[in-house]
Amino acid sequence: MLLEKRRFVAMPPADFPKFVVDVEKCNGCRRCEQTCPIQLLMIENKKCKPNDRYDHFRCISCQNCVAVCTENAISIEGDYRVSKGFWKNSHLFAGEKTLPVYMPKQRETNNTAEVEELTETEKIILNRRSIRLYKKKQVPREMIERIIEAGRFAPSAGNNQPWKFIVIQNREIIDEIDRKCKQFCKYVMYGTMPRPWIKKTVPGNKNARLRFWQKALIRFLVRFRGAGEMDQRALGGINAIVSDPDYHTFFKAPTLIILLADERGIGSIDLDLGICGQNMVLAAHSMGLGTCYVSLIDGLMGFPKYKRELGIEPPFKIITSLTIGYPKGRIDHIVKREQSRVKWIE
Ligand SMILES: Cc1cc2nc3c(=O)[nH]c(=O)nc-3n(C[C@H](O)[C@H](O)[C@H](O)COP(=O)(O)O)c2cc1C
Repeated sequence: MLLEKRRFVAMPPADFPKFVVDVEKCNGCRRCEQTCPIQLLMIENKKCKPNDRYDHFRCISCQNCVAVCTENAISIEGDYRVSKGFWKNSHLFAGEKTLPVYMPKQRETNNTAEVEELTETEKIILNRRSIRLYKKKQVPREMIERIIEAGRFAPSAGNNQPWKFIVIQNREIIDEIDRKCKQFCKYVMYGTMPRPWIKKTVPGNKNARLRFWQKALIRFLVRFRGAGEMDQRALGGINAIVSDPDYHTFFKAPTLIILLADERGIGSIDLDLGICGQNMVLAAHSMGLGTCYVSLIDGLMGFPKYKRELGIEPPFKIITSLTIGYPKGRIDHIVKREQSRVKWIE
């Protein structure tokens, strides 16, 4: 039993979601290509198709390609399911992803305007998508201050308010952070990916194997940094991003806010910062701005001197970052999600 659990290290055989493109409907606008966090789609001859880097283990089913498509040309089929080992999840989900179950009109028409029975807050929560397509126009300081105020008034354990915000509205500095994070991702990729996947000589080769020292490294990291960071979807994403020279970790957003936590805080400071961040995200969306969490900012851990220059010093640690800007085109849109795992006790 124990051996079975440890068998696949970070790359268990799994069923992955797949996106399906209706080439008749596609108008070649490239919005899906630009928004995909894993860079899976590409446009060729004005038609959207899976990118050469596409292989069996990458799509995270965020549905953002579905959300940005103005022609309803894309759909996602299937779900991420692992049937064996430590990462097994196939028994944990009942059925396929769905739209919110209490929204029959939405399901029929796919038209968010017709959903009247929801509160304004619910609409913002459901329609919010991670925005990765930004206009160049800078967000005025007053709006950023309002967003930070939304964060400041978040609840926290013992009201300890452990947050600190670093707001960067300088293009060159955001670009420099992007380069450093990608550099760090490269180290992660070489440490955790089978060579054929990195070289792309055998894209999608399910038989590619990790080397002995890579398995040992992953086991070590799972133990000391947590399993989540070694999940093959995250690692596959990092691999795809690093191998795309045009990828910008922060999507060329005009504003980047780094969220830091004071390590002397009470209880779970990571959770406090998560709540604070989501207050900020929802406030930003209610103002018509787009946001995306970018935890790849973690890559700065490889550059302690640069971190100090940015004002990231103990007792503060990086939790995540938020890109903020005006979205290019309408992106907010409800998408399907896994069904809730709920146990009712009455
Ligand atoms: C803690 C956290 C970290 C994230 N880090 C990244 C990231 O580094 N890069 C990225 O493109 N998206 C990142 N995302 C965005 C997720 O990919 C996105 O929330 C998810 O795919 C669901 O899509 P949605 O936000 O449109 O609902 C992150 C989200 C969260 C909550």
